[in-house]
Amino acid sequence: MSTRKILVTSALPYANGALHLGHVMEYIQTDIWVRFQQLRGHQCTYVCADDAHGTAIMLKAEELGITPEQHIANMKAEHERDFRGFLINVANYHSTHSEENRYYSEMIYKRLRDNGHIASRTITQAFDPEKELFLADRYIKGTCPKCKTEDQYGDNCEACGATYSPTELIDARSVLSGAKPVAKESEHFFFKLPEFSDFLKHWTRSGTLQNEVANKLAEWLDAGLQEWDISRDAPYFGFEIPDAPGKFFYVWLDAPIGYMASFKNYCDQTGMDWDEYWGEKSEAELYHFIGKDIVNFHALFWPSMLHSAKFRTPTKVCVHGFLTVDGKKMSKSRGTFITAESYLKHLNPEYLRYYMAAKLGPGVDDLDLNLTDFVQRVNADVVGKVVNIASRTAKFVAKSGGQLSHNIAEPDLWQRFVDASDTIASYFENREYAKAIRDIMALADAANEYIADKAPWALAKQEGSEAEVLNICSLGVNMFRALMVFLKPVLPELAAKAEAFLNDELSWDSLSAPLLGHNVNAFTPMVSRVESDKVDAMIEENKAAAEAQAAAIAANKPAPAPEEASIEPIAEQINFDQFAAVDLRVALIVNAELVEGADKLLQLTLDIGEEKTRNVFAGIRSAYAPEGLIGRHTVMVANLAPRKMRFGMSEGMVLAAGPGGGDIWILSPDAGAQPGMRVS
Ligand code: 2FM
Ligand code: ZN
Repeated sequence: MSTRKILVTSALPYANGALHLGHVMEYIQTDIWVRFQQLRGHQCTYVCADDAHGTAIMLKAEELGITPEQHIANMKAEHERDFRGFLINVANYHSTHSEENRYYSEMIYKRLRDNGHIASRTITQAFDPEKELFLADRYIKGTCPKCKTEDQYGDNCEACGATYSPTELIDARSVLSGAKPVAKESEHFFFKLPEFSDFLKHWTRSGTLQNEVANKLAEWLDAGLQEWDISRDAPYFGFEIPDAPGKFFYVWLDAPIGYMASFKNYCDQTGMDWDEYWGEKSEAELYHFIGKDIVNFHALFWPSMLHSAKFRTPTKVCVHGFLTVDGKKMSKSRGTFITAESYLKHLNPEYLRYYMAAKLGPGVDDLDLNLTDFVQRVNADVVGKVVNIASRTAKFVAKSGGQLSHNIAEPDLWQRFVDASDTIASYFENREYAKAIRDIMALADAANEYIADKAPWALAKQEGSEAEVLNICSLGVNMFRALMVFLKPVLPELAAKAEAFLNDELSWDSLSAPLLGHNVNAFTPMVSRVESDKVDAMIEENKAAAEAQAAAIAANKPAPAPEEASIEPIAEQINFDQFAAVDLRVALIVNAELVEGADKLLQLTLDIGEEKTRNVFAGIRSAYAPEGLIGRHTVMVANLAPRKMRFGMSEGMVLAAGPGGGDIWILSPDAGAQPGMRVS
């Protein structure tokens, strides 16, 4: 088997919100495939990045009172933390707001333009005269022209289902400013997609797509393609278009180019050859894993852009369905819109990796996370079947000195495991993980039946039975080892624990020979059962966060949305010296004011007993009214380097705790706190 060179990507998440289990499903699907290829000895590289451009990101940063660059840096740190948390083994995690991406975006655009594949013309769009920006349909609301229901979005009515253009809305207004949108002309650039119809008719049927996806695309291709608007007017957070001042690439133009950019960044770190993977004549394989909602971008626009710009096209675009929870669309109010962060707070990532693997197929069907089934299945399979084999047999091997026997007690049974490997491998290769898991669990059942039948624990009580007991248990340990080879792509941490116990590194080749006369280490518990109260606590937490958000919206007081709740970069652990260097001081709040144009911030004037007061911008407006703060004490970090913000210099940071409102302070003024008093 020759070594394959494979580059793999997942869809790049927007740098605008927390990852949720819908995202995680895709990363788990991708990661299992990548780990499987690596286990088989192939050179398989998985890259991802944040998708960092667009109006929404620009507006969110503005709302938070930070620059878009700060906002996307914070989001990237959160996303990378969640990737690590779910054991998603990306080789590189980059950003579309990067020099590499600017370079390839400009290069590809210029090639398209020079090939005559870019048109330009003037179009008329809704414009917010107060915010001075063009409004996408989702930023316009008004009364439905058909059924007269109020408060409907600019493109369709949720009440009667009518679709229309925003100019038809009655009493249309900008969601951003409340202003009445005006029609305004501007020049836009279009990618001439219809010119690629013949190319796409062939490409979409050349084994690059699942049949169901190719069939859907055939409908679109038959209906005729439209030119694609790839430009947006300033202000826009993105890359300016070459030779077109004030015009920016639409986020979806540079997003997939982010795959190239992340890989380029990785090549620069490792010395890998970028052209070998992206050059027009590349023999490497390129796999994109995506959800069914973004097929048009990946299977129409993207291959056409690559084709025109003389780069290779993807080997396969692997499309998956959506995640539902307990049979329904994920819902914030039901608590089933589960963020990656909240899952990891309560549960082991491998439980979800296993459950999703056990249900994932190669098609675009939705996957249901049934929470009751989740608990039962993980406990029954991972704990009850697989690890149980080792825990029931390892102690007898240990009693005989830790060395496995020199022969295989039941060669036919062992051969079943060896013979299963090709079928299981082809299931993983074709993303038929559910079938792979089904076969693996059937083998686990066979192993458990053998052990139950031989009952080494009973046999061990008979004198002179040591050799037989060791033979039985050595086969048990070898069957466990084979199962862990198969499961290593799905359960990498469990596999690492198994490797420590087996004193052996597992690869697909491990199946070619059992361990004979080999010393194993002491067995220690490898995984605990899923506790259903932890699942309940996770749901309750997500539900409470949604309720708090809804209450804040009702009170017209924007609470931090879950995705905004922890926007600060994730700190690594610090040592004691670093902690001791933090100068915490009691501070008297002598003034507190709202900050014009920043609805998350308060401007605080703090007295810490120094000659000059400190000016600090604190993102606590949703929790505290400024007038309630004046005269109160808090704790501030007094030696934080001053930070220039859009609204002025921030000279420190305050620490606040509590639910907001009145009873919030970690220090009360009558507890003897004096401004300037050191806390640490
Ligand atoms: O749908 C999304 O979440 C997009 N951010 C995916 C981009 S994938 C690639 F093209 F960058
Ligand atoms: Zn309507």
